[in-house]
Amino acid sequence: MSTRISLTVNGVKHVLDVADDALLLDVLREQVGTTSVREGCGVGACGACTVLADGKGISSCLALAVRYDGADLTTAEGLDDNDEVVSSFVECGAAQCGYCIPGMVVMTKELLAQNPRPSAEQITEHLAGNLCRCGTYPEILQAATTAASRRAAQ
Ligand code: FES
Ligand code: FES
Repeated sequence: MSTRISLTVNGVKHVLDVADDALLLDVLREQVGTTSVREGCGVGACGACTVLADGKGISSCLALAVRYDGADLTTAEGLDDNDEVVSSFVECGAAQCGYCIPGMVVMTKELLAQNPRPSAEQITEHLAGNLCRCGTYPEILQAATTAASRRAAQ
């Protein structure tokens, strides 16, 4: 069985026929083409598949696409190079293989929307569900701190 749903992804509306058991992760990668959304663990434990749904970070590997009919989704593709988080990650060298970074970036966006001036502890806590196999945590923390200062200065 499939169902027609509508997803707004990075400001663009998509009307899609999706299998009733299709995961949002697979629909985003295969039907929408937002390949920054990555599959790591597939069981909600690594954060590589994180997207923002109506501003809230969710694990798309655990989400049935049909449950998000009408949702407004943001993936890393929706952020341009001038975005304070993206530019801070680039300037701080916060990536080795890069696999985890889109999830880290959108979680940082979520944090700064909720708390524009987070402490280092609050950043670490907010990103605790996002794992980096390369151990780039110091640079990621620096990038998130830089993004917060940039946002505060605007
Ligand atoms: S792939 Fe979704 S949390 Fe790991
Ligand atoms: S940069 Fe490689 S997993 Fe994080």
